[in-house]
Amino acid sequence: MTASTIIAPSILSADFSKLGNEIDAIVEAGADWIHLDVMDGHFVPNITFGPQVIKSIRGRTDMVFDCHLMIAPTDAYLAAFADAGCDIITVHAEAGPHLDRSLQAIKALGKKAGVSLNPSTPENVIEYVLDRLDLVLLMTVNPGFGGQKFIEPVVEKVRKVKALIGNRPIGIEIDGGITPETAPLVAAAGANVLVAGSAIFKDGNQNNYAQNISAIRKASNDAM
Ligand code: DX5
Ligand code: ZN
Repeated sequence: MTASTIIAPSILSADFSKLGNEIDAIVEAGADWIHLDVMDGHFVPNITFGPQVIKSIRGRTDMVFDCHLMIAPTDAYLAAFADAGCDIITVHAEAGPHLDRSLQAIKALGKKAGVSLNPSTPENVIEYVLDRLDLVLLMTVNPGFGGQKFIEPVVEKVRKVKALIGNRPIGIEIDGGITPETAPLVAAAGANVLVAGSAIFKDGNQNNYAQNISAIRKASNDAM
């Protein structure tokens, strides 16, 4: 394969006291997308930020804002995230009973639509919404926190999702525990977008972000 892996740093592991500056640093360091982890303290046991914060950093860059909504319910908030400047809006299949409706709502707002699956959720929940999808985000940790250990059985699910997608133009994104050691496992199975938080922001030293990003990208590309 010739396409290079898309690297999406998760700002969950950034220094929030200087968030705008951290955005500038990862853009400069060669990020492809910016991954925004929105948590509500209800669907997941943690609370992060919402559309107002996203809007406040939107002016820093025109890079793709990849918004991962870990909230329930979702539909009432989709317009706010679209207005805040998210380019891709991903909802969890487990967050509500009407996944098809949520995906239609995202499309109606003119945004790219993604679905995310927790590690324990089988891939067949996407079977009847495939034609509404731009992205499938497979969690390789239980969502809620950065810095957790990669859950390896999900690698098999990556293969199954790849087969379900066939030749549709749908990205396969992996989120959780991605490092230069785990990236090749999911890249070889068919993933083409990798989220990484702690492996990129780990020591808070902005001088290292470029090498942290390129180490993951290289490990992934070599395995594709
Ligand atoms: C977890 C989030 C992830 C997380 C990844 O709920 O969705 O994006 O920040 O962090 P690392 O790369 O540290 O596992
Ligand atoms: Zn995420």
